[in-house]
Amino acid sequence: MSVMTATSDSVSIPTVDLEDIVSSDAARQARATAAIREAFGVYGLIYIRNHPVDAKSLEVFYQSFREFCARPEEEKRKLARPDLWYQRGWTPPNTEVAVAAQGQPDFKECYFAVPLAVDPNAAAQYPELYPENIWPNDAALFKETYLRLGRELHDTGITLLRGCARALSLPDDIFAKATEGAPHVTRVLNYLPLSKEQVNTNIVWGEEHTDFNLLTLLPGGRFFDPSGKASGRPDDKSGLYLRTRASAAHPQGLKVRGVPPEGCVIAQVGQQLEILSGGAFVATPHVITAPGVPGYSRLSSAHFIHLHSNEVLFPLPSFQNAETIRSYAPPVLAGTYGIKTLVDIGLAPRSALDSLGYRHYDRLDEARALDKAL
Ligand SMILES: [Fe+2]
Repeated sequence: MSVMTATSDSVSIPTVDLEDIVSSDAARQARATAAIREAFGVYGLIYIRNHPVDAKSLEVFYQSFREFCARPEEEKRKLARPDLWYQRGWTPPNTEVAVAAQGQPDFKECYFAVPLAVDPNAAAQYPELYPENIWPNDAALFKETYLRLGRELHDTGITLLRGCARALSLPDDIFAKATEGAPHVTRVLNYLPLSKEQVNTNIVWGEEHTDFNLLTLLPGGRFFDPSGKASGRPDDKSGLYLRTRASAAHPQGLKVRGVPPEGCVIAQVGQQLEILSGGAFVATPHVITAPGVPGYSRLSSAHFIHLHSNEVLFPLPSFQNAETIRSYAPPVLAGTYGIKTLVDIGLAPRSALDSLGYRHYDRLDEARALDKAL
């Protein structure tokens, strides 16, 4: 964590009650809208209560993922798919690099799966963004609880997006419609224990970044002590921190620890929601810091809601002005934006960018070669 940035545990990040959003009571709706406007306008993050995520099933899921992580590396390697840009199956440690990390990969292994049906047309147009799921052998409980968690977090996010639309004075279903059949993905992560020599060096579990999707849902992580037993936070510095929007008093923003009230899910604004709202909602920079004591690991999971790949990423008409147009031009498709980002963070090869321009110049080269031959 930067020594230049002030930290604070004292800011109060709003909590939204999901039932307020769907209530027909105008006062409850207004309470939810106000909470979302402040939380996403200032912090880019909100806590959600009364959500459908089942706590018991989440515990079983984490336990089954721990069992998967303990399998021999040789077995896990078979599920590592650079050809799918790691968008499904296992991502080995030392693979993903945050854009700000200057080449240092995150200290984690993770798994990707899609919990919902996708648009088959988009899958044909962007094959690497929409691959089929792949699963380990003999992991029925892992698969079942994984898909369940993904669907529960997705439902949570879609309801919250209705509240977001209202908070931005947009039609209620504008975001829900724009996300149908999109390449949503649920990820589970194992942040690796540090050795005695590694603690208090520059290793971070997840370098500071903003998410490139529309909205991210986090159901809460779990620490494990060196013996493998579930434990509380091993020290003061480990876990999720976010950086608030810059202000006159804090031009670098404030670093705030993300500690939701008991049982709440966290939602974070991604780059796509920031762009559509012309910056009215801010994508949250966040970092996962490693503990200052050796041997502790942490499991966490996230569900990433995306725009449909053929949606245009640009401020919506009511958010267009000279400044937002300058900030977010040119308009691009969410799918091509995704391809560029996956190259930037080291999951897709640089050659993927070639598909964003014309690829058939060789036809002319061949014709001209024939000119010369005749
Ligand atoms: Fe993230």
